[in-house]
Amino acid sequence: MTKADPLRPLRLVLVAGARPNFMKVAPLLRAFRRRPGRFDVRLVHTGQHYDDAMSDVFFEELGIPRPDIHLGVGSASHALQTARVMEAFERVLDEEHPDWVVVVGDVNSTAGCSLVAAKMTPRVRVAHVEAGLRSRDRDMPEEVNRLVTDVLSDLLFTTSADADRNLLDEGIDRRRIHRVGNVMIDTLKRFVRLSDGADVRRRLGISGRYALLTLHRPANVDDEAVLRRILDALVAIGRDVPVIFPAHPRTAKRLAAFGLQAGRLPGADGLAEAGVRVIAPLGYLDFLHLQKRAALILTDSGGIQEEATILGVPCLTLRDNTERPITVARGTNRLVGRDTRGIVEAARRVLRARRRPRPPRIPLWDGRAAERIAAVFARLPR
Ligand code: UD1
Repeated sequence: MTKADPLRPLRLVLVAGARPNFMKVAPLLRAFRRRPGRFDVRLVHTGQHYDDAMSDVFFEELGIPRPDIHLGVGSASHALQTARVMEAFERVLDEEHPDWVVVVGDVNSTAGCSLVAAKMTPRVRVAHVEAGLRSRDRDMPEEVNRLVTDVLSDLLFTTSADADRNLLDEGIDRRRIHRVGNVMIDTLKRFVRLSDGADVRRRLGISGRYALLTLHRPANVDDEAVLRRILDALVAIGRDVPVIFPAHPRTAKRLAAFGLQAGRLPGADGLAEAGVRVIAPLGYLDFLHLQKRAALILTDSGGIQEEATILGVPCLTLRDNTERPITVARGTNRLVGRDTRGIVEAARRVLRARRRPRPPRIPLWDGRAAERIAAVFARLPR
């Protein structure tokens, strides 16, 4: 088969590396594999996340087939982790010679694989799913990954109009940008009913109202003073409702290293006594079950701001900025920063409110984004 054969399937390499990628590749893989004559797809897992709870459980629950290729890069400093991804991924492209590399999100694997593809001879084209998001905060590693990936991408699939504008402002050719919606919401819509049956509340012994917390950004958990201010807020909120806290491995390590979990907190002997329940990371269905029923979500994640918006659950984001402004403008999200008082006051306001916000309808966040992406690829010349 030659490159110009109009009937041959388009050869795609789809990359996933870390937890927030898995719910994005699941619908893409399904959409591509639905048309075997059009697409020949390989799934590559870089191994950036490798624990069962951070990786395997998502493959099982979301029905993602085993990766065709696993790079096993693991954890390391940013430079080393990205370098390992690049070294291993170059060998994949040498063997596979795909027409396109498809990357999602903004993790180190996203940027590393894009850079490898862009530097192959001949160049392998890059498609970025969830392009154009900008926090304008270059201290965030993800912001650097987003900028690098977008500048190298030949096709940029966006979730919202603000992302299109960001890309156009950066001089990206309008013809490369396709607003298709949100693949992560494809997965939410597909699995939300199944998650209704999860027994996580029974397992955790939760009967009434609760707040759900996630926290893992280096800016929030690596600095003891900042983490302590956030924990002080949680202890205050924990007096009103239990705070369920599935802790990311990075955060669990920091809590242990700073000695914060069992004591040394003003007004509490330990987090558990203060109503803050630190538990192991949860799988997709359990977490979605808890999100949907939470009185309040507190988070520093990107994706959870979007999921909370679609579920109509009030979300307080423990950051000063967001790359997902539509969740504030149209959704349930509020930026509350990292100061104890601001977090506690915002949480109390939510908990006092009589009504929950109505879930907004965001155009194209309808469960069909991956289908639209596959349709764009299907129209490309071979
Ligand atoms: C990464 C992404 C971040 C994403 C987050 C979701 C980058 C720069 N960051 O951050 O955008 O929001 O994933 O979780 O790509 N660890 C384990 N087991 C694992 C994975 C990690 O124990 O399976 C521990 C390791 O100690 C590691 C630390 O967590 O050093 C951080 O992992 P890393 O992949 O470097 O970044 P995340 O903080 O997970």
